[in-house]
Amino acid sequence: MKKETWNSKIGIILAVAGSAIGLGNFLRFPQQAAQNGGGAFLIPYFIALIFLGIPLMWVEWALGRMGGVHDAHSLPEIYQKLLKKPFYKYLGVLGLFLPFIVFVYYTYIESWCLAYAFFSASGKYWGLESASIWTFWKSYVGIEQTAFFSNILPAVLFFVITLLINLHVLAAGISEGIEKLCKTVMPVLLVLGVIMVARVLTLPGVEKGFGFLWNPDFSALKNPKVWLAAAGQIFFTLSLGFGVIQAYASYLKRDEDIALSGLTSSFVNEFAEVILGASIAIPAAVVFFGIAETKEIASTGAVSLGFNTLPVIFQKMEGGRFFGFIWFILLFFAGLTSSVSLGQPVMAFLEKRLRLDRRQAAVWLGVVTAIYSIPVIMFLSRGFLDEMDYWAGQFFIVAAALIEIILFGWVIGIEKGFEEICLGAKITVPSLFKPVIKYLSPLFIIAILGGWLVTELPKIAKAGDPVVWASRIVMLVVLLIFAWLLKTRSGEE
Ligand code: PHE
Repeated sequence: MKKETWNSKIGIILAVAGSAIGLGNFLRFPQQAAQNGGGAFLIPYFIALIFLGIPLMWVEWALGRMGGVHDAHSLPEIYQKLLKKPFYKYLGVLGLFLPFIVFVYYTYIESWCLAYAFFSASGKYWGLESASIWTFWKSYVGIEQTAFFSNILPAVLFFVITLLINLHVLAAGISEGIEKLCKTVMPVLLVLGVIMVARVLTLPGVEKGFGFLWNPDFSALKNPKVWLAAAGQIFFTLSLGFGVIQAYASYLKRDEDIALSGLTSSFVNEFAEVILGASIAIPAAVVFFGIAETKEIASTGAVSLGFNTLPVIFQKMEGGRFFGFIWFILLFFAGLTSSVSLGQPVMAFLEKRLRLDRRQAAVWLGVVTAIYSIPVIMFLSRGFLDEMDYWAGQFFIVAAALIEIILFGWVIGIEKGFEEICLGAKITVPSLFKPVIKYLSPLFIIAILGGWLVTELPKIAKAGDPVVWASRIVMLVVLLIFAWLLKTRSGEE
């Protein structure tokens, strides 16, 4: 079979940027910022970007390109080829487990965006105030039966459509599927973002919103919680720790630049996050609800900000139906280019280990995702999905990143590793990043994990609802299945 590759440099940069720019940029970031002291949040955020985000981005691109030389396209295979001890490949299982788990719930949330784009355009939720719009959402996802939706079929339908679109792109492959999608959708997405920002900027009194977000309060630096949140957001938004960047980079040629490309895709993401993402939801919320209430809204979560608060705002603003549609389509596109990146490592792994072609692998992925989504949809209100997000989208990505950066800086060795980053580089990477990658970033991550355990462990052990435990057990089973496949299926010809 012909080796798959990216067709162009701009193609892979847009694909990585597409993975990075997701719901995290437009919902999670503003919500986290508003909840963690507004402008205060940005200081640890930028520190984490420079000392964690950028170095890890380079490490992931380098690992991917190194693995691709040996025809390894998912993290366990990359570890297997690059590291001598057979044991190391099992550490890479996180690079399948995490993207798969997130794929399952992320595509579901993505499908809400598609649905809400239609509801906005058709004015389906028009006339509903803050309290009732919440009921509307609950009714849509099947938590409550009301007059809005008598059953969950619409939600299932939109989910099936979203899943099929994802699988269709994945089945078409790297250059014909993912690259084409990102080259088309990413420019559109940026234009939609600019349209939304322009609308928000012309709201009367919007300065208050920006003042709230951009006034740094240095005292927040003393609060470890703010640091944890900022570092967690950097991981999530740059798609780091998941195994997806490595999978994408594994389709690069040996001497293609990664230093500048990695940096560029990170910058595009930061533009979409700090400039676009920060200038829509929160400033608009401050205009219509004031600062105190906006903080309260943020504390109820990113989903509520996107699906409850903004729909109320659209009803109050001129041209609301149009902008509501633009907003949710923007979210849908952002989600789509992210979710395909979550599917790709699993696809590559299934193809190799089960000897499938791309179409068959896509069918497998689709069937398993559809089955898994049943409890996700049914037990939404009891925290089944939240539990997946908590472990896969927050905790284990940080753990996986720690493993990865230690393997890179210590086992492969920083000299060789750094040389890899610089190979074919179109910029000079400051050698300062050697000690950063070897010492500083790992220590930073250890501090984050430590802080996490102290604050979170007591809460975790307390979870009483059996649904939460069921969600954890299902995840464990998924993890074990991936490890078992890795052990029993050699994947060699
Ligand atoms: N970076 C995405 C976001 O900001 C989340 C994501 C992580 C997507 C990993 C794909 C892979 O929403």
